[in-house]
Amino acid sequence: MVEILKDNPPTARQPLKGLYISARLLSLVFNIPLWTLYYALFPRPRASWTVKEAVLVRLFRYLMPLNALCKLAPQTLDKTREVPESELKETSFVWLQPVDETLLKGAAKDTKVEPVKIPGYIWPKATPIPADGSLVGLWIHGGGYMMGNGSENFPEGDVARQVFRHTKIEHILSVDYRVSSEACHPAQLQDALAAYSHLVNTIGVSPSRIFLFGACSGGHLVLLLLRYLYEEKVLPMPGSVMLFSPWVDMQIDLDIAAKKCGPRPNHDIDMLAASYYANLRFLGHHPISFLSSPYGSANRAPPGSYKSYPRTFISVGDAEAFQRECTELYTLMHNDGVDVTLDVQVDAVHDFYGSGPLMPHDTARANVTKRLVNWMRGK
Ligand SMILES: *[C@@H]1O[C@H](CO)[C@@H](O)[C@H](O)[C@H]1NC(C)=O
Ligand SMILES: *[C@@H]1O[C@H](CO)[C@@H](O)[C@H](O)[C@H]1NC(C)=O
Repeated sequence: MVEILKDNPPTARQPLKGLYISARLLSLVFNIPLWTLYYALFPRPRASWTVKEAVLVRLFRYLMPLNALCKLAPQTLDKTREVPESELKETSFVWLQPVDETLLKGAAKDTKVEPVKIPGYIWPKATPIPADGSLVGLWIHGGGYMMGNGSENFPEGDVARQVFRHTKIEHILSVDYRVSSEACHPAQLQDALAAYSHLVNTIGVSPSRIFLFGACSGGHLVLLLLRYLYEEKVLPMPGSVMLFSPWVDMQIDLDIAAKKCGPRPNHDIDMLAASYYANLRFLGHHPISFLSSPYGSANRAPPGSYKSYPRTFISVGDAEAFQRECTELYTLMHNDGVDVTLDVQVDAVHDFYGSGPLMPHDTARANVTKRLVNWMRGK
């Protein structure tokens, strides 16, 4: 176990970093034609995928480890910069003030990580979120806690865009929380809490009108925030929760690396390539046991500890590596009497709802939207 607990592989430093990245990128010149030929001639991982889809999924899986192995933080920019309106078409920029110290207890308190001011974005543009009875979404983007941002220009913002366009949610706040190259845990929890408290305390939105939602590691942060609200009761729980391909289990990445268990289901066909380096960087100076706690791995919370959780919609694909942990989470919540829905789309890969036309496939996305709309109507 000991030797795997280093958060810096040799590829995180020069010159290996540059060499490794160049080699991976250069090899695409051969790999893309090879994969194309292969998937044209032989059965694809799922018969419903086109050759292009099969190649794209493979390409994502091939490039994704670069973030973890080379400590890259793509699509994450300086969070002290106010993004000008000219760079935004659908949203407006808003500053979210550092979360009030009185809301910080237990897991959100740390001697080394302090609350800071962070960027937020609101849908629709130039329309402040009102305190009236509108339905308001709080969106948390994904990216393995390593990459991405909360702006409309980050591709996965498509989740928020679809929810905004197709459901009765009238306003959405997207939080641009700190990723682990900027600060480790509990920075992400502090920032998510800052956004939630901005809605509840600053604007005065009723928590029961709030839909807290996230994708991938954003789904993990949703679950982290919920667990914190459940444990510390600093603010009421939101009325509803939506999780899209959420990362649920942080412990399993270490267990897999230490060969204590087999790989995740679909790990060899999904676009996701998980790495425990992401978990260790998120963890920072905190004890490793945090990863298997209900904060780190919501599927490892004891039965009974989901009572009083809000109504929840979980979306996952059946070709995705997170399928099992999503099902475990669903079962725990369901057994605790939570009003929880699990929607599994056939042949869909990780983050299919937030990956636009790149990923298989359009029907799955349309199905989820339809199901979401019905779910909001109470069906
Ligand atoms: C967010 O990501 C998009 C897409 O890569 C990028 O164009 C944009 O500059 C990023 N914005 C911020 C504020 O990080
Ligand atoms: C979408 O829903 C239809 C009907 O409910 C179903 O037959 C189909 O398999 C679904 N598509 C996917 C990709 O799951």
